[in-house]
Amino acid sequence: MSLIKLDISKSGVTVNSEMLAKAQQANELLHSGKGAGNDFLGWVNLPSSISAEEIAAIEAQAAKLREKAEVVICIGIGGSYLGAKAVIEAMSNSFEFLHRKHANPTVVFAGENISEDYTFELLEAVKDYSIATIVISKSGTTTEPAIAFRIIKAEIEKRYGKAEAAERIVAITDQARGALKTLATNEGYPTFVIPDNVGGRFSVLTPVGLLPLAVAGIDIKALVEGAQAMEEATKAEVAVEQNLAAQYAIVRNELYAAGKKIEILASYEPKLQYIAEWWKQLYGESEGKDGLGIFPASVTLTADLHSMGQYIQEGERTLFETVISVANSKHTIKVENDEQNLDGLNFLTGKRLSEINKMAELGVQLAHVDGGVPNMRIEIPQIDEKAIGELLYFFEKACGISGYMLGANPFNQPGVEAYKKNMFALLDKPGYEEESKAIKARL
Ligand code: PA5
Repeated sequence: MSLIKLDISKSGVTVNSEMLAKAQQANELLHSGKGAGNDFLGWVNLPSSISAEEIAAIEAQAAKLREKAEVVICIGIGGSYLGAKAVIEAMSNSFEFLHRKHANPTVVFAGENISEDYTFELLEAVKDYSIATIVISKSGTTTEPAIAFRIIKAEIEKRYGKAEAAERIVAITDQARGALKTLATNEGYPTFVIPDNVGGRFSVLTPVGLLPLAVAGIDIKALVEGAQAMEEATKAEVAVEQNLAAQYAIVRNELYAAGKKIEILASYEPKLQYIAEWWKQLYGESEGKDGLGIFPASVTLTADLHSMGQYIQEGERTLFETVISVANSKHTIKVENDEQNLDGLNFLTGKRLSEINKMAELGVQLAHVDGGVPNMRIEIPQIDEKAIGELLYFFEKACGISGYMLGANPFNQPGVEAYKKNMFALLDKPGYEEESKAIKARL
């Protein structure tokens, strides 16, 4: 039984049998492995195929890192970064950094940028803490994490020596290929494998996501259980009318066909901001190709009602909105009575903030719908591992279905290479001599 609910009643789309048949066909293609990009479908049955032994191996490695390090630096970019970042943000106390007793260890991230100041400040910040690192790269050759890893590896070796460094560096990479795999083998780093048939942005439920999450103290068994429930609820055998991922994929494709080119993922919980970042990569890289695809954007509300709210309400009518709605807060805070009532808010006395937040959400939904922004709502009962696990798989499955409905190969990302060629040419990488000359002439 899945916990997530999907409400499409304010999307303006009436789902008909033709749409259902198309979505069903797309889902069957994912399961039969006969569609485009079919060598990257390992994620479809991934949750149910994760064994207790795999979880135990990940937890055992996490325990070793937790014992050794106060700060674990997680190095990766794109799909080798966003899943872990998203779930850690969702599950952590928003003010962890102010708590006298920090989470032990604290997981921080590197290699998702090439900022000199970020890297300097990171090294400064961890100066007085014991450190370890998890370096994640499927290809093992991505420039940003490779640069960060050089620096962090040197720091670890300087502090602890080479032998102990091999206890504090864990590599997650391809089974056989790539520079990181070669290095990990040569240096004897503990290594976890990213399956060949799982692409980066679909890899959160492999060691790519699970090891950093286990290090951060997150219950990865419950996360996987949540994903398993959603895998079960969206199988090809499930009636497509009951398949929430198919319904979501149908509505977004219909809206796109009707000229709604931008989907805004909105949430009223700041903790979910990085879930939206993860979602943006998932949908942006999967569908944005061949001159097509919905542009995935996100807002955190109510904050962004005071920045993006005007545009959403009255700007160009090419938007639709999907809200991740959280039914229950973990904690209770009520509005106090104030004798003077100068702010006029005594009508809220005794109300929980979650109740006010919910009314904001419903009010905004109706205002946006009235303003020509179709709306879908995905409700999760609360922010916990099980619900987040469901949500991750829900979005993955819907992405596969949606991409096939659009006619795309959702599992490649040819466009990501263009910037790399230019960057290497500008940096005079050997082998890029012709490109270097050509690009420098354009500057
Ligand atoms: O989804 C993808 O495949 C990409 O976003 C990759 O995850 C990203 O480019 C990082 O690649 P790698 O893990 O090979 O370093």
